[in-house]
Amino acid sequence: MANEANNFQELISHCKEYGYIFQSSEIYDGLSAVYDYGQNGAQLKKNIRDYWWKSMTQLHDNIVGIDAAIFMHPTVWKASGHVDNFSDPMIDNKDSKKRYRVDHLIEGFADEQIAIGNEQLAKDVLASMDALLTKDDYVGLKKLIEDNKIKCAISKTSNWTDVRQFNLMFSTEFGAVASDNPEDNKVYLRPETAQGIFVNFLNVQKTGRMKIPFGIAQTGKAFRNEIVARQFIFRMREFEQMEMQFFIRPGSQMEWYNYWKETRKKWHESLGIPAEKLRFHDHVKLAHYADAALDIEFEFPFGWKELEGIHSRTDFDLSQHQTYSKKKMQYFDNDIDPATGKAYGNYVPYVLETSVGLDRLFLTIISLAYAEEKWLKEDGTEDSRVVLKIPAKIAPTKLAILPLLKKDGLPEIAKELFDSCKESFHCFYEEKDAIGKRYRRMDAVGTPFCVTIDHQTKEDNTVTIRYRDTMTQERIALKDVKQLITEKIS
Ligand code: GAP
Repeated sequence: MANEANNFQELISHCKEYGYIFQSSEIYDGLSAVYDYGQNGAQLKKNIRDYWWKSMTQLHDNIVGIDAAIFMHPTVWKASGHVDNFSDPMIDNKDSKKRYRVDHLIEGFADEQIAIGNEQLAKDVLASMDALLTKDDYVGLKKLIEDNKIKCAISKTSNWTDVRQFNLMFSTEFGAVASDNPEDNKVYLRPETAQGIFVNFLNVQKTGRMKIPFGIAQTGKAFRNEIVARQFIFRMREFEQMEMQFFIRPGSQMEWYNYWKETRKKWHESLGIPAEKLRFHDHVKLAHYADAALDIEFEFPFGWKELEGIHSRTDFDLSQHQTYSKKKMQYFDNDIDPATGKAYGNYVPYVLETSVGLDRLFLTIISLAYAEEKWLKEDGTEDSRVVLKIPAKIAPTKLAILPLLKKDGLPEIAKELFDSCKESFHCFYEEKDAIGKRYRRMDAVGTPFCVTIDHQTKEDNTVTIRYRDTMTQERIALKDVKQLITEKIS
């Protein structure tokens, strides 16, 4: 794991060197907190997204998926509360003019204290912060920052402004119509994908003849004008969410809250994330729409941080859209309520939400996968490698096909194998360099299986298969390669 043996900076460099993640617009010195996924990163991201999509929409018979537009009617964001409430308390350093989110500034201070052994102070400061945030006590938050002499990372001073609210939504103008009032043409880049689901609740329920409880899933881009964007792809201004809104009967929310909390944690474990690297963190200060909320946290190389949010959103969003749009957002439930002996009837459904950041999950997987290994060879000399132990089922390339030599008919056999496998999974063909060097490159890029075609292949139709994680090799029949890899990645 990158935080134990290795340096997080090395993981970032590795992601660049092996075509996983590049800084956006790098030739112009980059754009802060915006990243591009390279040829391997895009494929890994797609594989994670597909794994989520399949688990939600294919493995649950009562969850369907949609793909709503990023642009939405501006009233959506008024109704959802984002125009008025989607803001964070911020503070500016007067010397560097740098703006910080108050909770990030204090959490950063707490992380520093833990690193130097002051765990109790870190705990106390975080507890005070939680209490002050719950009360929206901005004067108290500023005092907490000043009392602990928390400094700006740039100016190194504690010369702070008052704490103020700052809205995180990006806006732009729609169409070419000039207006005296800039608000007339204003549209927002969605800060969460969830609202695209809420406004389509009736469309999906009616056209899909969905019966409560049922879910609507969606993956897609979201945008937030994050003030302190740190830690690589952990907190970005443009990112991707994988969200599912589960529509339920009012009153059943705690039952579903507990169900989805456990189900989602187990799902992360199914991706190879060790249970001890995951934990629940209950929210102290609830978002404006929630009556219960928790984070599934992962132990990132820089500490425990939110990976996924589970929110009981009550009927807040649907009721708000009902009020603002004047369209009924109700469901008729003809099941019998055992308490009354009558049908449940009409109601605005409650919603249980699961929301995971795709980029954060990518960072989770790649930081767990990254390892720098050293060992002693039989002759007593040291050998080493850098390897990405990405689970085979989501690895960008599954199989590398490597002819030992560029001659003697070996490339022809290798290309035939490549053609027979490429329909079923991603393969990579390479004939350049010594075989050991090629294996190391495949380790570094995270390819779980390599097959080498050599002279013996011509004699007995067998090949060497090499396993990335153990570096062990065995001889198998050429005709069995496709079947074996298919089984290993399923
Ligand atoms: N619809 C609910 C919602 O958006 P959230 O806790 O604000 O809730 C959900 O976000 C998830 O989206 C987070 O758990 C995180 O994984 C991801 N996320 C949020 N902001 C992000 C950012 N700036 N960069 C990357 N991922 C982010």
